[in-house]
Amino acid sequence: MQVSFVDREEELKLLNELWLKGKPEFVVVYGRRRVGKTRLIMEFIKGKPHVYFQCLPVSDEVNLRRLARVAGEALGLRELLGASFSGLDSLLSYITRAYGGRLAVILDEFTYWARYSPKVVGELQSFIDHVLPETNLMLILCGSLVGVMHRNIIGYGAPLYGRRTASLRLEELKPWHVKHFLKIKDKADRLRVYALVGGMPFYLTYVAGSESLEEVLTKLFCSKLSPIYDEPHTLFREEFRNPELYYSIVAAIAAGHTRLTEIANYTGIQRTHLPKYLRILSDLGIIAHVTPIMGKKGWYEVRDPILRTWFKLIEPNLSLVEAGLYDELLTKIKAELDQEVAPKAFEEVVRTYVLKEFLPTLARLRGKVAVGRYVHRGVEFDLVVLHSTSGKAYVFEVKWSDLTEKDVRREYSRLLHKVKSSALSKYDVKAYIVARSAPSVDGANILTLKDLPI
Ligand SMILES: Nc1ncnc2c1ncn2[C@@H]1O[C@H](COP(=O)(O)OP(=O)(O)OP(=O)(O)O)[C@@H](O)[C@H]1O
Ligand SMILES: [Mg+2]
Repeated sequence: MQVSFVDREEELKLLNELWLKGKPEFVVVYGRRRVGKTRLIMEFIKGKPHVYFQCLPVSDEVNLRRLARVAGEALGLRELLGASFSGLDSLLSYITRAYGGRLAVILDEFTYWARYSPKVVGELQSFIDHVLPETNLMLILCGSLVGVMHRNIIGYGAPLYGRRTASLRLEELKPWHVKHFLKIKDKADRLRVYALVGGMPFYLTYVAGSESLEEVLTKLFCSKLSPIYDEPHTLFREEFRNPELYYSIVAAIAAGHTRLTEIANYTGIQRTHLPKYLRILSDLGIIAHVTPIMGKKGWYEVRDPILRTWFKLIEPNLSLVEAGLYDELLTKIKAELDQEVAPKAFEEVVRTYVLKEFLPTLARLRGKVAVGRYVHRGVEFDLVVLHSTSGKAYVFEVKWSDLTEKDVRREYSRLLHKVKSSALSKYDVKAYIVARSAPSVDGANILTLKDLPI
């Protein structure tokens, strides 16, 4: 189901500004597969003269012939149909000379071509260095293999390093965009959908139009053909030369082995080798290293929403999928979803809300603002915003549950007690309980799903 285009306002603004400058541009758009790169570019080029080309992992000859045909058709250059060129540089030079006006040429999935035939990167470099400056061209390179993009194309020491005039790493959509894809009225269920697929446009589109959580779950999980069952294998296979190794590391972290030694013990990978792999996984946005705002030790978390769902909800139940026992599968998934996956997503949504609502006020004051989880001397807070200069702090205890008035009173007094016994006692603290739902109670600061953007 094609959904009206959602957000990407900043990205479109940037691209349109570059277009209107009318200068030669070399723009790189990249990001995880399925994050919405192609759709963004399609929206951008609407009504503009363009050549949109989807590169394939095939020989130079085949890709060049295909590109010549696509350009010939798009620009009405009949001589290009069936023409052959010696390299990408000579073909792009021909196109820009034959077509005088402002033009966008998009090489989508360029990483597939480059991985199959590395020499094409050199040809592109030659074109960018020698011909592009004399043209009216906006050349857009797009790729979903983030690692290949960094290592072989735009990263330090790579052939196209320093040549791009702009680069755009496309990230997931935000929690508050999820509602544009769904007909689900209940905010808790919308949050559950966000917990399952994050802000990943491909999956949001896949479940688009759903009227209930049940419908989303059925679409996502009740067919072996659902793309979610292939996602991790494809992702690891496409990004890494040794996918099994990276898979094991992410599996370890997902299973709660979140520190270096624990990951080494769980996977059997030498501790000294791990930092490099962990850095690569972090660069790709698959995992993240989290440091608490007090205390030194950090830990790793799985950041990619689809992989989180895979390791928490799918992998442990693969035999049910294999056997086609979907009723049992959904019962388990629903229970597990509310155990860990939805609470985690709830924390994330609270964090985005807090960053939006609380940070601007503090950011205007002098001094640094720290935001994060607090783990220090046996005391934990889910989220703390700390402004040392003014001595102000906001503390949030996040509960994925429906609280009664009694619960609120108990939890709130616990929270205040915890604040007093922590290093935050010397701050001017405003403490909040955040719950799925809760009644208002005198003297307690409460936020619920109703207040949150989802
Ligand atoms: N901003 C958006 N609003 C609505 N739908 C979107 C948006 N972005 C992407 N989509 C939809 O999500 C799906 C995946 O998007 P798209 O194909 O652009 O991703 P991609 O990053 O190019 O993926 P791949 O790396 O697999 O090529 C498409 O069906 C697209 O229409
Ligand atoms: Mg694409």
